[in-house]
Amino acid sequence: MTDDRGAGGIASPAAPAPGAAEASDDRLAAARRRLDRLWARGCAFLGCERAIMGGAMTWVSERNLVAAISNGGGFGVLASGSMPPELLEAEINATRALTDRPFGVNLITLHPQLDTLIDLCLDMGVSHIVLAGGLPRGNAIQRIKAGGARLMCFAPAPAIARKLVRDGVDALIIEGAEAGGHIGPVATSVLAQEILPLIREVPVFVAGGIGRGEAILTYLEMGAAGCQLGSRFVCATESIAHPNFKRAFLRASARDAVPSVQLDPRLPVIPVRALVNKATEEFAAHQRRLIAELDAGRIALRDAQLAVEHFWAGALRRAVVEGDVERGSLMAGQSVGMVNDEKPTREILDELTDQAVRALLARAEADAAAHA
Ligand SMILES: Cc1cc2nc3c(=O)[nH]c(=O)nc-3n(C[C@H](O)[C@H](O)[C@H](O)COP(=O)(O)O)c2cc1C
Repeated sequence: MTDDRGAGGIASPAAPAPGAAEASDDRLAAARRRLDRLWARGCAFLGCERAIMGGAMTWVSERNLVAAISNGGGFGVLASGSMPPELLEAEINATRALTDRPFGVNLITLHPQLDTLIDLCLDMGVSHIVLAGGLPRGNAIQRIKAGGARLMCFAPAPAIARKLVRDGVDALIIEGAEAGGHIGPVATSVLAQEILPLIREVPVFVAGGIGRGEAILTYLEMGAAGCQLGSRFVCATESIAHPNFKRAFLRASARDAVPSVQLDPRLPVIPVRALVNKATEEFAAHQRRLIAELDAGRIALRDAQLAVEHFWAGALRRAVVEGDVERGSLMAGQSVGMVNDEKPTREILDELTDQAVRALLARAEADAAAHA
């Protein structure tokens, strides 16, 4: 059997009729224009050419990857994690030395110096601030708004999305349970159906489990302004993640990225999606030991809860920076299964864009064939 599929898997006739190639070129150009229209609101909001955000990833999203994403036409976001203000200041400056394009800064709401970090970003003229890790307090929102930066917040449910819009946030991110790192319980596809039709006042970006351009296109057509991807960028050439961390990503399939498990409601575990490794097993054993000690009255409840919380302290750094992929945390989304090679960030962005365009083109070709 001959394969009549061209690049992108789009069927093309063996011998095109005269004028067919021009018609096809026209349809390709039209598909590109259609994608540009679909993500125009997101691009305008972010100040970039393709409304693809590189989701902040602690230890991974530093100057090199962030600048590469913004230089590639997407929108990089610096992960500040637990950085003190001086380090964040240095990282923002270093990123600016690598790109003159806009990028955002992700701040964790639980950071003890959140207000100082906000003021630093505002003083440095950071254009976009993403508040992550829990609902932001009203004064954080007001501070950012008064300082003139654009504020993006995560909305894990429709009621919260509505509240955040009322509170004045400039854009929302909805991130489903397929995502890497800290996750909520609801799938991206469900959050998208619940929130995209509801919120028109501000741009909404969709995150979690997105590995290909066709999925980006789907969410745009459902009303998203753009999408945020994390795992797909971990193995970018510019990513400074340790080669062992990248290798673990390249080997993994979607089913290897699982949420952390809570064994006892007395010892709450904040769900984090990561690749299974030795630390995953040790975490279960650690919880079992603490449960036995609790039952025997040998440990106070608060001490046992703290022992659970502390288990993963420093674990992401251990994996990303030191390359200890057995004892560290391999945070990864289910989209890790679509990370198949190490390549430049721009190529990843081109591939995602091309997949979206090709999907639109395939439809136009099918329509044209049906009406021929
Ligand atoms: C290694 C890793 C670290 C992450 N760290 C953060 C973080 O510091 N702040 C944050 O808001 N999200 C964090 N995330 C979530 C990403 O920003 C992004 O929303 C998520 O990866 C999207 O899902 P995907 O991995 O399926 O693309 C992290 C994700 C990964 C994989």
